[in-house]
Amino acid sequence: MTMKTRVFSGVQPTGNLHIGNYLGALTQFVDLQNEGECVYCIVDMHAITLPKEPDELRDHVLDVAALYIAVGIDPKKSIVFVQSDVPGHAELAWILTCQSYTGELSRMTQFKDKSRGNESAPAGLFMYPVLMAADILLYDADVVPVGRDQKQHIELTRDLAIRVNNRLGEDTFVVPEGRFLKEGARIMALDDPTAKMSKSAESEMSRISLLDDEAKIKKAIMRSTTDSDGEIRYDIENKPGVSNLLSIYSAFSGRSIPEIERAYEGQGYGSLKKDLVEVAVDQIRPIQARYAEIRHSEALTRVLADGAERAGVIAEATMRRVKDKFGLGGGASVPSGAGR
Ligand code: AMP
Ligand code: TRP
Repeated sequence: MTMKTRVFSGVQPTGNLHIGNYLGALTQFVDLQNEGECVYCIVDMHAITLPKEPDELRDHVLDVAALYIAVGIDPKKSIVFVQSDVPGHAELAWILTCQSYTGELSRMTQFKDKSRGNESAPAGLFMYPVLMAADILLYDADVVPVGRDQKQHIELTRDLAIRVNNRLGEDTFVVPEGRFLKEGARIMALDDPTAKMSKSAESEMSRISLLDDEAKIKKAIMRSTTDSDGEIRYDIENKPGVSNLLSIYSAFSGRSIPEIERAYEGQGYGSLKKDLVEVAVDQIRPIQARYAEIRHSEALTRVLADGAERAGVIAEATMRRVKDKFGLGGGASVPSGAGR
């Protein structure tokens, strides 16, 4: 019997996804649908590690769900669901909490960055990586596509799985592998090409959201930071702004960077920028059209309900197996036919 590779990943419902998320992560989520059985989660419980307005959270969850589908995640092939709809995540997170060391959790760079030794840092920030490990192990995931910034969290997930397997048996958890997203697809901020394009940067001109209108896209690209030598050449070190525009152009158009350099030889940044606006808008427009169709539709509610059900079936089976391994639960959790 050949078992299909199980792929799992999650995105936080924090604000609109930008073209960095799209080119770096979402396009690969779409491609992986041809390689394995994909489970894509909207991790709303991770989003409440810092206070969130309930209505805003609800909206952002639906925004991300609709964008997943608009970019090409096919809910017939893949499971698309919301983390808090499946109780196993929180349940397994507690079991894994009891397998974790406070030392290893306090060494997580994301926790250190966000808490900065502050005594009143939320405990949820500290436990964040354990909940992420639970997300992954709950689905027996083989492969986890994520950005490089998540590498330490994947290592912790593997350590916890191996630690438990050594004690309770190799068949307790599947030890997952990280699949780190293309480094070349790291898109930088348009107004500061030395910083990564991010959801949290203050300036709207730093990013292009997948939901931005044409005027905003145009403004952000036309105003983007370049240098003064006027030569259209890829050189990350010395010409980070132009190089970033060339990367975006190449990713959206499918043309190679040398090909684009040749096409613009002797021309100024203005014409490159003007054409990039067109290339970007051409790619983003159909995504927005699909998004608009689905965002307020009943179909989206059905996708998430169906996703929660399918995810729930996998999660329940894992929880039965894991609870049994730990000796947890009364009659309700004894696997049928276990005969013990
Ligand atoms: P985040 O926005 O940090 O929740 O990231 C969601 C996914 O998008 C991660 O897998 C990141 O690797 C990817 N991502 C975020 N920002 C960028 C960027 N500027 N360029 C490329 N990929 C990115
Ligand atoms: N921590 C991830 C991020 O910020 C999001 C996430 C939560 C995740 N649970 C996950 C990613 C499980 C992959 C697998 O990008």
